[in-house]
Amino acid sequence: MIRVRVPGDKSISHRAALIAPLASSASVVRGLSDGVDVRASVRAMQRLGAAVECTEEGRGLTIRCAGGGLDPGSAPRLDCGNSGTTARLLAGILAGSGIAAVLDGDPSLRGRPMRRVIYPLQAMGARIEYEGEPDRLPVRLRGRATGTLRALRHRGRVASAQVKSAVLLAGVLARVRVEVSEPALSRDHTERMLAGMGVPLAFDRERMGAGEVRFDPSGWDGGLDGLLMTVPGDPSSAAFLIGASLLAGRAVRVEAVAANPGRIGFLSVLEEMGARIDRDPASAQVGEPLETWTIRPPDSLRSFSIGGDLIPRVIDEIPLLAVLAARARGRSEIRDAAELRVKESDRLAVLARTLGKLGVVVEERPDGLTIQGRAGRLRGDVETRGDHRIAMAFGVLDAAGDADLRIDDRACADISYPDFWEALEPFRHGRRSSRRGHPSRAGRVIAVDGPAASGKSSTALSVARRLGFVHVNSGLLYRAITWWALDRGIAEDGPSLEAAVPGLEIDLVPAGGGFDVSVEGARPGSGLESPAVTARVSAVSTLPAVREVVLERLRRAGGQHEIVCDGRDIGTAVFPDAELKIFLVAEAGERARRRLRQRAAPFTDDDVERQTRRLEARDRLDRSRPLSPLRRAPDAIEIDTTSMPPDEVVDAILELAVSAFR
Ligand code: S3P
Repeated sequence: MIRVRVPGDKSISHRAALIAPLASSASVVRGLSDGVDVRASVRAMQRLGAAVECTEEGRGLTIRCAGGGLDPGSAPRLDCGNSGTTARLLAGILAGSGIAAVLDGDPSLRGRPMRRVIYPLQAMGARIEYEGEPDRLPVRLRGRATGTLRALRHRGRVASAQVKSAVLLAGVLARVRVEVSEPALSRDHTERMLAGMGVPLAFDRERMGAGEVRFDPSGWDGGLDGLLMTVPGDPSSAAFLIGASLLAGRAVRVEAVAANPGRIGFLSVLEEMGARIDRDPASAQVGEPLETWTIRPPDSLRSFSIGGDLIPRVIDEIPLLAVLAARARGRSEIRDAAELRVKESDRLAVLARTLGKLGVVVEERPDGLTIQGRAGRLRGDVETRGDHRIAMAFGVLDAAGDADLRIDDRACADISYPDFWEALEPFRHGRRSSRRGHPSRAGRVIAVDGPAASGKSSTALSVARRLGFVHVNSGLLYRAITWWALDRGIAEDGPSLEAAVPGLEIDLVPAGGGFDVSVEGARPGSGLESPAVTARVSAVSTLPAVREVVLERLRRAGGQHEIVCDGRDIGTAVFPDAELKIFLVAEAGERARRRLRQRAAPFTDDDVERQTRRLEARDRLDRSRPLSPLRRAPDAIEIDTTSMPPDEVVDAILELAVSAFR
């Protein structure tokens, strides 16, 4: 079973970033998506004078807002980048607050329709002009002339959460009555968040068909309560990993994911395709339900047919579903989905063209696609048009769907899922089967990662002893290379070291239940722990050529023995397909105390303080280095050892090992 956690939900993150600064009191929101889109929302609010502090903490972004609203000074130009949600929700916020500004975006966003939000806001009395082409960004909001906005009853022709949100936000901020009805349910995150902040809204959380939301300010004092929440995982990001699990024939568990009914229509489509899905509710966050899902693949995928009211609830998952359809038995059909033509790309056209080039029989209709699934290896080029969901959908096919694809722009996944390619690794086709076919007991790997002084090596050693596995530690190899480089006088000279290291004779030699290391025939022994090696090893280990050699030696050991391997990138880079991955964490203060205790000399509170700061600095370095940064693999199990005795940590891992190797 592969276990994953996905980044914070993008839609909820946008709303937190845009709405929390408008509250009258302080807000703290954790776990926001750290994608490029959400950063555009945060930046825009800062440019509008909101007191928003944004930091990278643990999983995703944390924002802290003092509250108190906006104060932009002279009309700023706000770059919304690629993000339709930023542009459209901001239009409502600016109109409702009477603030003058210009909204603009990248060429893709400049190509998307804006009249759908601008028109109802103009109908409320907001003064908005197109700077260039009608219906397109950039738009100029002129601020308030006299009086406030007018009440509005808006009947949307398309189900759009962005339009609904813009009108609601304008009404709430201008304190005028608004009603929005839509032909089918679109995601209602704005409604849930505003209601959670004390805004009097009437809407039906359970509705699935056409719906209506009403804001009536009578009797309301106009204040929004601060927002305290942790953003749940993004179901749209999870969908890609679930799709990969279905293609790879591997079960997957997704933890703490947002289960808003407006977002999870794709689960019913996957059930139609034969997947078995168990949903366990977890506690909600500001009206947003959370669940843990277990998905088991069928022997082969069946085709599906979707349309009507379901479309707004699967709108962002259609690229993935189309790719799965190419691998299903029979002909799948997608109807009533013309909205896909005005997303980050014309997704219907891009999907039809790309699948067609790969040899899949596709028919493109004005509002949908029919896709005839086929067997056999798919090969070809994927032109993503910079569209993150197109890149990720075909990335899934390439990794797990018996395909060999050249994707022109993988980096665009950063828009919503910066760690996507790494998260996809465990699903990569064929990894499991090659391991299973291994003739000896060799090849089983437990990966143990974690920050400095988290107890990785001692834990890994004990686990290895108890299981009869061999313990190996990546630090041993890095130290051996550093020792050798110091001896040669090239430890400070990156280029010479990088040139020499590929030819270096360095080997892990089994010794006493673990490994010793030999470099050019010599055994450095206690020289590995010398102060000179300790001072230099961190810098040496950042050199790509050095990392490559270490990675190769570790994998060789993993191919020959059952190992418990510890380091900082074992589960992410060295053994992305390890059967069991553990990520050990502990509070920096506790790690500092453990490190000082190892030295067996008395220490003071000041020593602890200094050591804590040193460890925190090292953590920052390890997490931010460009090559194999310290990061928990998505399928690693995190164990917080701050208040656990060492034996308990070892027992917990042994228990996990039993079920992983069953
Ligand atoms: C979103 C709403 C949807 C969706 C988009 C995010 C939102 O767009 O496709 O990715 O966060 O409100 P529409 O409201 O245009 O349907």
